[in-house]
Amino acid sequence: MKSTAPTAPTEPAIVVRDLHKHFSGKPALRGVSLQVQRGEMVALLGASGSGKSTLLRHLSGLHKADAGSTSQVQMQGRPVQAGGKLAPDLRRTRARVATIFQQFNLVDRLPVMTNVLAGALHRLPLWRVLLARFPAEEVNRALAALGRVGIEACAWQRASTLSGGQQQRAAISRALVQGAEIVLADEPIASLDPESSRRVMGLLAELNRELGVTVLVSLHQIDYAFAYCPRTVALRQGRVVYDGPTEGLTAERLHELYGTQLGELLAAPAPAPQPAPHQAPPLPASGPRTPALHAA
Ligand SMILES: Nc1ncnc2c1ncn2[C@@H]1O[C@H](COP(=O)(O)OP(=O)(O)OP(=O)(O)O)[C@@H](O)[C@H]1O
Ligand SMILES: [Mg+2]
Repeated sequence: MKSTAPTAPTEPAIVVRDLHKHFSGKPALRGVSLQVQRGEMVALLGASGSGKSTLLRHLSGLHKADAGSTSQVQMQGRPVQAGGKLAPDLRRTRARVATIFQQFNLVDRLPVMTNVLAGALHRLPLWRVLLARFPAEEVNRALAALGRVGIEACAWQRASTLSGGQQQRAAISRALVQGAEIVLADEPIASLDPESSRRVMGLLAELNRELGVTVLVSLHQIDYAFAYCPRTVALRQGRVVYDGPTEGLTAERLHELYGTQLGELLAAPAPAPQPAPHQAPPLPASGPRTPALHAA
C-alpha cells in the first residue's frame, strides 16, 4: 500500500517494551512486551478489563505510559512513545496506522464518501479538507475502496443510515484510502451480528493477506481468533499470559489462563462458514484464508 515516508523495512511493525500504565494509582498494564512482524494478523484476546483497549491506545499514542517508566512503543521502526513521552513526529507515524473501533467512529451526519475520504486527509492541502473539495482521483480511490468492501451503493448516504456491519466496512474502506500499513482494530465485531462479524473479520484478513497490512485485532471471542488469526496474544489483568499460535490455546490451557473468566471468552457463537466471496474458514485455522476480494 502507499506509504507517506521512508520506513525501516527490516523493523517489526509493532514493538512494545515493558509497557506500564496506571490509572489513578491502579495498574492497567503491568510490563507488557510484544512484537508483531510486518504482515502478521494477530488477535489480542482477553476478558473485560484485561487491558486490550488500553494497550491499543498506547500503540497509537492516544495514551501515554507511566511517566518515568522504561516503557517503549515503536511502529514501523519509528518511535511512538518512550518513558511516558510521545515522539515529536508522531503525526507521520500515525498516517501509516488506521484504528477501527467497536463503535464505528464515523461522523454520522456526513456522507459515507466524506468519512472514507477522511483517510486521505494526511496527503491533502488544508483548504481542500476545509471546503470538502476532494480531487477526482481521491473520490475514485474512495469509490474503489467502498467497492472492495461491497458497499459502493451506499457512498452518498449519510453514515447514520448504514447498518453497524456496513459502518464497520466503511471504516475499513477509510483504512484502504489512507494506505494504512497497520490496522489496529479494537473489538471491531463486538456490536455486530454473527454474519456481519464474519464479513468484517474476513475483510481484515483479506487486507492482511492480499495487501500485506499488519493487523492487530482485539477480541473477546476466542472462536474468531481461531478462525482468522494465526497468532494470539492473550492478556489477563494487564499482563501477557500467552503469546503464540492460536491453535496452541487448548481448552486446558485456556482454563489454566482464565479460570472463571473463560465463559466470557467462549460466549460468542462460533463463526460458521458463510457464502462466497467472504467465506470464513472452518475452525481451528492456522492462518487467514478467506477467498478473494471483490474487484475494486
Ligand atoms: N481512561 C481510564 N481511566 C481510568 N481507568 C481506566 C481507563 N481506561 C481503562 N481503565 C481501566 O484499565 C483497565 C483495563 O481497561 P481496558 O478498557 O483496557 O480493558 P479491555 O480489555 O479493553 O476491556 P473490555 O473488553 O471491556 O473493552 C480496567 O480496569 C479499566 O477500568
Ligand atoms: Mg476494550
